[in-house]
Amino acid sequence: MPYEGLIRTYRKYLPEIKDESIVTLLECNTPLIPSEDLSRRTGLNVYLKYEGLNPTGSFKDRGMTMAISMAKENNAKVVMCASTGNTSASAAAYAAKSGTMECVVIIPEGNIALGKLAQAMIHKAKVIQIRGNFDDALNIVKEVTDSYPVELVNSINPYRIEGQKTAAFEVCDVLGDAPHFHAIPVGNAGNITAYWKGYNEYEAAGISERLPKMLGFQAAGAAPIVHGHPIEKPETIATAIRIGNPASWKQAEAARDESGGLIDMVTDEEILEAYKILAAHTGVFCEPASAASVAGMLKLSEAGYFEDDRGATIVCTLTGHGLKDPNTAIKAIAEPVTVDNNLMAVLKEIGL
Ligand code: F0G
Repeated sequence: MPYEGLIRTYRKYLPEIKDESIVTLLECNTPLIPSEDLSRRTGLNVYLKYEGLNPTGSFKDRGMTMAISMAKENNAKVVMCASTGNTSASAAAYAAKSGTMECVVIIPEGNIALGKLAQAMIHKAKVIQIRGNFDDALNIVKEVTDSYPVELVNSINPYRIEGQKTAAFEVCDVLGDAPHFHAIPVGNAGNITAYWKGYNEYEAAGISERLPKMLGFQAAGAAPIVHGHPIEKPETIATAIRIGNPASWKQAEAARDESGGLIDMVTDEEILEAYKILAAHTGVFCEPASAASVAGMLKLSEAGYFEDDRGATIVCTLTGHGLKDPNTAIKAIAEPVTVDNNLMAVLKEIGL
């Protein structure tokens, strides 16, 4: 059987949906990549759930195939979201695939990685930048969708969480059980909520036996859950998680507390360090926000958090592809060298 996309693969765990309503780009079924380098650094058995390999390059496609399919089933003509970039890229692509829906996205001016902006534009979304941040954008989207016949496709739409929970199913299907730990970046907090729901549903269905400890990581300049209050002016190089008042705050705390895990923060320096380690030593290029999961794991490992858990299995979600944000990559590594157009100059540069 050829792969049929998220909804048809995990249909029995998802809300009912008519076959003709399904809008899919054959998303998900992303690889769970073992990292020998990170395993050596931590003493754990480290796997990377590489969500950058989704059709639009991020985990958002999981929730978006569900949200856009349900919108189609409800005859919506316009869908709308606020975004730090990836949600807008995904919503725009799935609206395009539907053939029946327009997409409007509200983004914070100047704080969207270049690739994500390109995606929303090329898929023909109506892109509106505001002189404000993601939290302001989400408030506007809520007001519009409350009052007009426009379908909201941010993760406060419950179908988004339903789609995203399947990432936990895929992890269990590959490992044969849930991991001992699951590390994940936290922005608007929909994804940690979705994974925890997925792990619980598989355990309740008797497919997995374990529940992982959920380890969520916010950026230090945008860490409202860690500080216990909203952050009015969140700042971080990881623009995807530059969020000061997450919509799923309570659910993220529940995932943390019920699983016996934690929500901590990592500095931009720690994020960039993990980002470079992943690319240089495991060969996986993710966007900066994604590296927060690995930065957090390394931080906890150095602090002795896993001392009694040597050899335990940990999955780090890498939420988006590195190509989304080429500017950060080039800045992080410096420019390539340029030499004259001849063999000698090239050999000299290589040191041969
Ligand atoms: N990583 C990436 C690459 C993201 O784009 C996001 C969220 C997150 C992590 C955090 O996930 O919000 O479920 O806690 N991006 C949203 C967007 C906010 O608009 O694309 P979360």
